[in-house]
Amino acid sequence: MCILEIFLDSACPLEIMEGLKTGFISGVTTNPSLLAHMKERDNIWTFLRSLCTETLPHPISIEVMCEDEAEMMEQSQKICRLGSNVVVKLPLTLAGLNVCRFLVSEGIQVNVTLCFSVHQALLAAKAGATYISPFVGRLEDYGENGWNLISEMRQIFDRYQFRSKILAASMRCSRHVVQAALAGADVATMPAKVFQELFHHPLTEKGLSLFKEAYQNLSF
Ligand code: E4P
Repeated sequence: MCILEIFLDSACPLEIMEGLKTGFISGVTTNPSLLAHMKERDNIWTFLRSLCTETLPHPISIEVMCEDEAEMMEQSQKICRLGSNVVVKLPLTLAGLNVCRFLVSEGIQVNVTLCFSVHQALLAAKAGATYISPFVGRLEDYGENGWNLISEMRQIFDRYQFRSKILAASMRCSRHVVQAALAGADVATMPAKVFQELFHHPLTEKGLSLFKEAYQNLSF
């Protein structure tokens, strides 16, 4: 059965632990900007290894921090050794797609990131990516329609039976998660703030306090 999976977009161990405890999070995505915020870490590789252990058995995407193909290949091997749940995150460039094709042929999971168009997504699917990440929030910030991108990817992937999962990324608010689901994404990755928003509605909180008040006035 197809369901919308929820991933947490975070490199903060505390946020990740809290998210996993809810039982709704089935994976984690990180990126270099998120990692740069974790100032207390001393060695990046030790930090990443512990993140992988803490998120087991859920997939965690870890991005290469270079653009050259040979260097990317080398860094990907190092990332793979961090844990059995690692998904190597590669940029949507020719070099990234070449490395993707190789890693997938070795049975390694790959998340092709920074996807902004359907033609880019098509190439990533042909390279066998496990996940492809359209950054819908950044497209919307730019005045473009991110939801058309996801629904066109869905149509093409279904028509040609590509197995890559559409991982809607760069979610800015709870409404974006709904739009990702309506457009046919397989996964939505979001910051902890957006994940928390999913649980709330002002009328739920208002309703609760009204019921509490009524309950207190009941006489048994
Ligand atoms: C996804 O894998 C990315 O880490 C993320 O969603 C980017 O989001 P941003 O546009 O908020 O940086």
